Amino acid sequence: MGRARETELLVSALDSGAHVVLEGPPGTGKTTLLRSVASAEGTEFVFVEGNAELTPGRLIGHFDPSRLLADGYSAETFVDGPLAVALRTGALLYVEEINRVPEETVNVLITVMSEGELHVPRLGRIRAEHGFRVVAAMNPFDSVGTTRIASAVYDRVCRITMGYQSAKDEEDIVALRANTSGLPGVSTKWRAQVVEVVRSTRDHADVRVGSSVRGAIDLVGVAASLAKRRRAGITDWHVGLDAAQVALSGRMRLHESCSRAPEAVVRELYERVFGAEPTETNPEESDNKEPPPEGGEPGAPQPNEGPPPFQKPQAKPRGQKEAKIPRSQLAENPRFSEISPEVGEIDEAELNKALAEDPENTLALLADMAGATDERLRAEARRLAAKIVLDLSRRGSPVGRGIGKLRRTRADSGGELDIDGSLETILTSRAMGHAPDPDEMVARGWARPQMAVCLVVDRSGSMGGARLAAAALTAAACAWRAPGDHAVVAFAKDVKVLRSMDSQRPTAAVVDAVLALRGHGVTALADALKAAGEQLERTRASRRVVVLLSDCRASDDVDPLPVAARLPELVVLAPAGDCEEAEAFARKVGARWAALPSAKDAPAVIADLLA
Ligand SMILES: Nc1ncnc2c1ncn2[C@@H]1O[C@H](COP(=O)(O)OP(=O)(O)OP(=O)(O)O)[C@@H](O)[C@H]1O
Ligand SMILES: [Mg+2]
Repeated sequence: MGRARETELLVSALDSGAHVVLEGPPGTGKTTLLRSVASAEGTEFVFVEGNAELTPGRLIGHFDPSRLLADGYSAETFVDGPLAVALRTGALLYVEEINRVPEETVNVLITVMSEGELHVPRLGRIRAEHGFRVVAAMNPFDSVGTTRIASAVYDRVCRITMGYQSAKDEEDIVALRANTSGLPGVSTKWRAQVVEVVRSTRDHADVRVGSSVRGAIDLVGVAASLAKRRRAGITDWHVGLDAAQVALSGRMRLHESCSRAPEAVVRELYERVFGAEPTETNPEESDNKEPPPEGGEPGAPQPNEGPPPFQKPQAKPRGQKEAKIPRSQLAENPRFSEISPEVGEIDEAELNKALAEDPENTLALLADMAGATDERLRAEARRLAAKIVLDLSRRGSPVGRGIGKLRRTRADSGGELDIDGSLETILTSRAMGHAPDPDEMVARGWARPQMAVCLVVDRSGSMGGARLAAAALTAAACAWRAPGDHAVVAFAKDVKVLRSMDSQRPTAAVVDAVLALRGHGVTALADALKAAGEQLERTRASRRVVVLLSDCRASDDVDPLPVAARLPELVVLAPAGDCEEAEAFARKVGARWAALPSAKDAPAVIADLLA
């Protein structure tokens, strides 16, 4: 459907003998295009799923171990992998998701693309027959578990980008692909509305990556089956919404800073196109685009807004009056009047400008605004602060949460036996008539950095904007370093767990909770460290670290040293202007420590401390 231009470009590039990378979001028809071009041209193609486990051996081929033991190395004992097959038959090698493939496998492809042949140890050369080309696909939004492909790859391929298609083309694709058997005659208008809902997921402010046309295909298919079961029309409002939830809620990737559930976003978009929920007294309105009057029936299903699953409504901390900051006090900051020209408003452009010019002061101001008396200003500041903190913390994060790297290990320490690397040992021991020595065999395993972090935030004493911003950024930076297992506790006289080790609480919500902290009371350091130690006991990570953000001036009567000494690992982060006692404390317990010059340095300092 459509894609005339991309078809022409792909056919021409392949005709010229070039290798090609097709780059575009999921579901934009990359595979479909290649399949249809290959079949129209009568070209064979060999398909490889690109993922982190695609080792060079799996791509090229391997010696069959049992035949090898019997017959030794020969061309007959070699089992061709997809690359060897494509080379020998002059076929297209289609590698999906090339940006998920480990570097050493990509290097094999680079060699083949430049040399036109492949050298396999103990087998010899495999020359590329006429017609061999590599076509790779990748998705530019895919940032988890992927790396940007090397410029050496880009330099050897032609690139064709595939964006989302027009609404009309997507409607045609849905008409072609969606299974509506038993319910013929789905109206063109309804299908167009479905496509409109799906397309609107791609530019909603809360959504990072929206749904592809696959969402629309499934939505129509699910609605058709659901309608049959419910003996309702496919255009029934509730049938459509339920099908939309099923088809779209899992396909959208929301921004990390968004605390809404995906279901709430789907409902909002659905209502935008199909109107609000029809009232029960007026069921025939269900096909009507006009929104019914405000207000739902008391017994009617409630809208899906409200707190997202897995998240308990946030309880107000008891016994703690949180002093709010009035506008007059915020206005003492010279930047405030530009950033908030009107009551209850934040000018985002001015805020970004101020952040670029004077990040320190602006972050502190934003943290203060997150505690403003003015409710609208407070909400707006909290929303923006979470977003900015997450962006900043990610930018400073040198490690992705990416895939682990393949490492060679001893064969008796788990992993997958590297037959090729262990063959000499196997053959020799067989000739000598004894079992092979595991010490001399090689396995491949996934080396994953396994770290758990518990951040301990000291909020005794005055907890002004700058300290809050530093704490929020540190919390976000810790979340990036240990995405699975991290906890955050705050303490003054009492200890409060803001995120426990086994919780699913999103980082945005944790950042928000940190920004809501106000300081007061004594510094019960020993209790806080004890709570952190308990958090670390809940994880099975191999490295477990407590990050203490404090000036380390314990002001209760309990000595924190014995507790600190029992922690698996402690690092101390102290405000740059006030770090003598923190340094002395760290020395006494043998902990690493660093001074934190300003909030924006937190990600880099954390990365350094946890390296
Ligand atoms: N232009 C098109 N013509 C016909 N069908 C299409 C077209 N584009 C997409 N589709 C349909 O949409 C679905 C997704 O397409 P396809 O698998 O080709 O996307 P892709 O870009 O390869 O996705 P991914 O990046 O996830 O591999 C398929 O069901 C396919 O049939
Ligand atoms: Mg594909």
